Amino acid sequence: MKAHPAKSAGDDLNTLRTEAADCRDCHLWKDATQTVFGEGPAHAPIMLVGEQPGDKEDLAGKPFVGPAGQMLDRALKEAGIDRDRVYITNAVKHFKFVPRGKIRLHQKPNTPEIKACRQWYERELATIKPSLVVAMGATAAQSVLGKITPVNKNRGHLIELDENTQALVTVHPSYLLRLPDEDAKEQEYDRFVEDLKIAAKLLRKLARAA
Ligand code: URA
Repeated sequence: MKAHPAKSAGDDLNTLRTEAADCRDCHLWKDATQTVFGEGPAHAPIMLVGEQPGDKEDLAGKPFVGPAGQMLDRALKEAGIDRDRVYITNAVKHFKFVPRGKIRLHQKPNTPEIKACRQWYERELATIKPSLVVAMGATAAQSVLGKITPVNKNRGHLIELDENTQALVTVHPSYLLRLPDEDAKEQEYDRFVEDLKIAAKLLRKLARAA
């Protein structure tokens, strides 16, 4: 396995993206189309972290462009956050799936895969230096907080990561898509938007302070 430095002072996003394109630190690259790196302004005040690219993202090479991305876009808009102002990435940067006929069925990444990929999140974080990291779902929460973190117990309030960075844990937009009951879906969507409004409030505060 090739070791990548955990952090380097000279990292910029293009260098990171180029290096990550050749990452072989776990086996997931073998079946995936490509590394799906993060996207957004180099010094975004907010970084959103998802689980891993899905089928559409794997093909497009961009995070959150499929159905979960559409759900996220809708919720961000409703919370008053401009997607173009945030950096969006995933805890794991290759699509993990099992083939089922013509379909590629999403598989949850395991702890060794999350750990192998964490270097990229760490280096994105060190480069972008956001004030807030929003971890969407259990995989993102595990990567962002460095340990298994139950979403429901930890969601909806700011958690200090270091003196300049806070984290906010919330659900993953795919969770909302999977809920079979329409009322539950609506309620959970509203809670997701409420969580994102915490991020929106912080964005406004930062803009006032700038
Ligand atoms: N789900 C994720 O966690 N990330 C994506 O980019 C798409 C779907």
